[in-house]
Amino acid sequence: MKPVLVSGIQPTGRLHLGNYLGALKHFVELQKSGKYECYFFIADLHSLTETFSPEEKTDQINNLAVDYLAAGLDPEKSTLFIQSLSPAHTEMAWVLNCITPFGELRRMTQFKEKSENDPENINVGLFTYPVLMAVDILFCNPQFVPVGEDQLQHLELTRTLARKFNTRFGKTFTEPKPLLTEVPRLMSLDDPTKKMSKSRPAGCLFLDDTPEEVLSKIKTATTDSGKEIVYDTDKKPGVSNLLLIYSNLSKQSISSLEKRYQSKGYAEFKKDLARVVVESLLPFQTNKKELMNKPGGIKKIFEAGSKKAASIANKKLIEVKKKIGLVL
Ligand code: AMP
Ligand code: TRP
Repeated sequence: MKPVLVSGIQPTGRLHLGNYLGALKHFVELQKSGKYECYFFIADLHSLTETFSPEEKTDQINNLAVDYLAAGLDPEKSTLFIQSLSPAHTEMAWVLNCITPFGELRRMTQFKEKSENDPENINVGLFTYPVLMAVDILFCNPQFVPVGEDQLQHLELTRTLARKFNTRFGKTFTEPKPLLTEVPRLMSLDDPTKKMSKSRPAGCLFLDDTPEEVLSKIKTATTDSGKEIVYDTDKKPGVSNLLLIYSNLSKQSISSLEKRYQSKGYAEFKKDLARVVVESLLPFQTNKKELMNKPGGIKKIFEAGSKKAASIANKKLIEVKKKIGLVL
């Protein structure tokens, strides 16, 4: 049997290059390797922890479904599903809530950051978010979870909860490991000391940006003092971030890029990088345009995947209920 892996993304807006290089592109590569049984989902319940409107939410879910397929996730090879279509997920989250120490959740960096960024909307969902995430992971006995660096703390909590449950009630859950890419934390274009995040749209390259937008954003991206194009995250965080993007999308090593641009200026480097980004995004954008015309087919794909995931989660829930002494 192949090792299982699982991951999800929240439908909260347009995907940016950080989501792509830290997660989605990796999902596609892992799927293509054929070495894993893959589950990828749309974390719609998690996304309710941020302010939203119903119309916008439906669009965001549909848009992410299209993004998954446009990037190359394939329902023939991976199970693609929507979190809210598996009721056992939330029921199991309640059980895990009851073994999760309050103090563990209070120290979660994402909770602290999001509460600070949006003090008007510090809801209980935001607080228990990592517990539902633990269920998203543990329901299918995975060995691996491909995520960006910002999710490592949540994954560590997942492992802690799995261990705790297993010790108290008998072996039920696996303890999965993270899988990081070479770009686990892409930095913002306008401030390379902060991670690229949709909460700071000015620093994001979005996957559906036009060539003009890409060029203009890269042209104005913060670079550092001096003229050298070298990778040095302490002294030259801006240039290093751009080199990382260039290297990852063009599959050229950072050292070969440093050599190539040894006696060249930022302007030429940035112009070339913009071309690399535009060319790399083109297949995704072309696929996306085509898929937009087939909403019915996409719905069917996610319904079928959700049925499968819901049934696996339900089996796990029954196992959990038996272990904790709930009568069936
Ligand atoms: P989210 O949009 O928060 O649901 O994130 C989806 C995935 O993208 C998660 O695996 C994140 O860890 C990853 N991710 C988000 N921002 C970045 C970033 N700046 N660099 C690398 N990965 C990221
Ligand atoms: N919390 C993740 C994020 O913001 C999304 C997510 C929810 C997730 N459940 C998950 C990722 C399970 C991996 C596994 O990016």
